[in-house]
Amino acid sequence: MEHKIRLDNKLYTYIMSTETFAQKIAKAQDFLPINGTDYIEFYVGNAKQAAHYYKTAFGFQSVAYAGPETGVRDRASYVLQQGKIRLVLTTALKSDHPISEHVKKHGDGVKVLALWVDDAYSAFEETTKRGARPYQEPITLTDEHGEVRMSGIYTYGETVHMFIERKNYKGTFMPGYEAWESAYKPEDAGLLYVDHCVGNVDWNRMLPTVKWYEEVMGFVNILSFDDKQINTEYSALMSKVMSNGNGFAKFPINEPAEGKKKSQIEEYLDYYEGEGVQHIAVATKDIVKTVTDLKARGVEFLSAPPEAYYEMLPERVGSIDEDIKKLQSLGILVDRDEEGYLLQIFTKPVEDRPTLFFEIIERHGAQSFGAGNFKALFESIEREQAKRGNL
Ligand code: FE2
Repeated sequence: MEHKIRLDNKLYTYIMSTETFAQKIAKAQDFLPINGTDYIEFYVGNAKQAAHYYKTAFGFQSVAYAGPETGVRDRASYVLQQGKIRLVLTTALKSDHPISEHVKKHGDGVKVLALWVDDAYSAFEETTKRGARPYQEPITLTDEHGEVRMSGIYTYGETVHMFIERKNYKGTFMPGYEAWESAYKPEDAGLLYVDHCVGNVDWNRMLPTVKWYEEVMGFVNILSFDDKQINTEYSALMSKVMSNGNGFAKFPINEPAEGKKKSQIEEYLDYYEGEGVQHIAVATKDIVKTVTDLKARGVEFLSAPPEAYYEMLPERVGSIDEDIKKLQSLGILVDRDEEGYLLQIFTKPVEDRPTLFFEIIERHGAQSFGAGNFKALFESIEREQAKRGNL
């Protein structure tokens, strides 16, 4: 079914089937039950400082630590939490270490998208049987608080999915970690859970990656955009959204497409030096409050779309609860699908390389990803790309 979106006085179309997301998701296979995102682990150059940044700028709280003081000799890991979102920031202590190699090549970035499962052993067996490349053979970690079982497989690039089973574990995060007591406790920013994590893959790699999520993980493709739908005057990309059977794990996959100038996905691939996580979308119940707060803490967001975007908003999305003037002053974008509307905004990249960024999203029924905002969003990204000399 073709949908039309009027934006900047041009009519855009995108294709959605008549099935609801719930109906599509129901077709996913359940050999890999997933309860949600367990944690997201970043490999970084200096985890101590990165942890401070995520506490100060985004309002995460200190949870756990592993490092030389806790008997881990080769690395330091800081676990932070806000709502259900758990970040692990890890750095190696010597250059001759796979984590240092990862950081040297990719810069700071996401290494692990960990999924909370009921059975880490069967998750490994079911996915490797279907062709997944093993990253971590199933293991059981035990301490006085219980046990955590885990396993892992590679997905796109050097990124991995860990499967974490923590039925009876009562300790802090997992064995090997100690509670991280910190006197520095900045207020949280109202971030609740991971809504979706987007991967950028290389030219001609989107379809094989989609097939991999279907065959290996039992996911379904719930939404697709081609380069005719996602393009600006200068660049284009293609995207397909993959979801598991309960919708708790959603991984959109982007691929660059030919345009007059360099696509933002190509810029990412050049600077990450490979495929990887492009953005992490985190949900809030009050985006106006969250974004006001994050801005005051120094989080940088992409510039607001032009005036015309907000003038046309009532016509494009109908009535919404929020004050449009307020949304405009913060640069928050709005989109609507048949199930409701959503509010979203994107940060600038959170490291010097133009790679990973965050999305803040507030859903009012809508289960889609803001297709009506793609053009405005990409033009904003292109303004930043041009400043970097990469457009
Ligand atoms: Fe997103």
